[in-house]
Amino acid sequence: MTHVMFTFSHWKPVLWGLLVFVLVTHSIKTVTRNFDWESEYTIFMAGLRVNRQNAKLYNNVGHALESQDKFHEALEYFLKASRAQPDDIGAHINVGRTFNNLQQYDEAEHAFWKAKDLLPRPRAGEPYKARIAPNHLNVFLNLANVISRNKSRLEEADALYRQAISMRADYIQAYINRGDILIKLNRTQEAQEVYERALQFDSSNPDIYYNLGVVYLEQGKATQALVYFNKALTLEPEHEQALMNSAILIQEIGNAKLRKAAYERLQLLLRKGKINERVYFNLGMLSMDDQRLLEAETWFKKAIEVREDFRSALFNLALLLSDTNRPLEAVPFLKQLLKYHADHVKGLILLGDIYINHVRDLDAAEDCYKSILDMEPTNVQAVHNLCVVHVERGHLQKGEQCLVKAAELAPKEEYIQHHLQIIRSRLQKLQAKTSTQIQHEQSSSSVHETAGQTNLKHDSRSKTKNNDQDSLSPKNSNVDSSRHRQQSTQK
Ligand SMILES: *[C@@H]1O[C@H](CO)[C@@H](O)[C@H](O)[C@H]1NC(C)=O
Ligand SMILES: *[C@@H]1O[C@H](CO)[C@@H](O)[C@H](O)[C@H]1NC(C)=O
Repeated sequence: MTHVMFTFSHWKPVLWGLLVFVLVTHSIKTVTRNFDWESEYTIFMAGLRVNRQNAKLYNNVGHALESQDKFHEALEYFLKASRAQPDDIGAHINVGRTFNNLQQYDEAEHAFWKAKDLLPRPRAGEPYKARIAPNHLNVFLNLANVISRNKSRLEEADALYRQAISMRADYIQAYINRGDILIKLNRTQEAQEVYERALQFDSSNPDIYYNLGVVYLEQGKATQALVYFNKALTLEPEHEQALMNSAILIQEIGNAKLRKAAYERLQLLLRKGKINERVYFNLGMLSMDDQRLLEAETWFKKAIEVREDFRSALFNLALLLSDTNRPLEAVPFLKQLLKYHADHVKGLILLGDIYINHVRDLDAAEDCYKSILDMEPTNVQAVHNLCVVHVERGHLQKGEQCLVKAAELAPKEEYIQHHLQIIRSRLQKLQAKTSTQIQHEQSSSSVHETAGQTNLKHDSRSKTKNNDQDSLSPKNSNVDSSRHRQQSTQK
């Protein structure tokens, strides 16, 4: 070994130098390559070092950042692009879209206008559409979408959608968005025509069928609406809004045979991770309709866990507990309801009821009825129930006077007349007696009876859960239901 080494010893420095050279150049290449090719982002950054004035490269860096949801960083690059090349339409669209993602809508609109102003002007004798790049057409959609956030500018948005459609007759997304605006403008007939026209270009688009369902819903045609929601689901079995709204509709139509399907659709939404209070609430409503009260209770509670100020869920849960002989358990939910919705009359009636009959706290009951009368001085039920509070306190005379006023307010309400008769006959009997001891006993027993009957009456009146203003009626449920997709990327 020593021999060999000795032999080559005079080559050693040369070989060594060669090896070092190879190693170093290789590793430099690898390092730069790793650095450059590690991600799209670095590729483009590398490009930028070469050409600082190229908007395309800034835009590409922006897109790479945007794809990682780094909107603030992306915005910087899109803005740089728009400054480097102020006539780059795509750069302004990118700026607008990013501002939109950052919920800075005024800035977004400003950028989209810049992009739109850069589009070629129509020239006489030449069809406008011929001169606009297809991928720039979405300027109209983006601009219309951001403008339509302001409810007093819907007409302006509509004009932009119409313009987009005039340039591309098969621009499905423009039809869909325009229909949405027309629904908001309460021009449902036109919305229907717009969607039907869109179907001529694309008869297998589930969104269009879904939106037609929404139109029928707006027109109060529940059965037809359901047909279209179902059609959307045939084409796209996991179409979320169709799943949700068809389930709500089935619940509201009240057809027991369809309920199972509705239940399954909502369960599917849950499996898809669409955990939201409306899914739970509607599962609760369906369970209630099927008399599965324990399940209903669980669903309503879940809805409230997601949204603690959920009006209808809180009220229906309280009502359900009260109806299933657990009135004291209803109290905390009623208090929660009234904490967020102090004007919930039915909640106040139910709570007052429980205070009288189960908690035996007449002052608290009185407060409930007085709160209602502050808001609605002629609320017959509150007036009547306040009379019951007087009676319960043993103030029969005051109770009678009170009921007379209630009867004047609502001459046709038989229960008031009936209670007035009961009080009057008690008063007559009392006048016939002399012993105060007996008087006391009798008055409290008679009062109890009266309260019991009154109570029956409140219950039946409170039991209007399906008509509860804020339970999800078709109108409420579809305010945000039609699909509203923005053209998202402009590369
Ligand atoms: C909505 O648009 C109207 C009319 O253009 C305007 O006066 C109003 O300030 C806008 N509202 C908002 C919140 O931007
Ligand atoms: C919508 O239009 C219908 C008739 O076209 C009308 O009856 C209804 O009151 C309108 N609703 C609103 C909110 O303007």
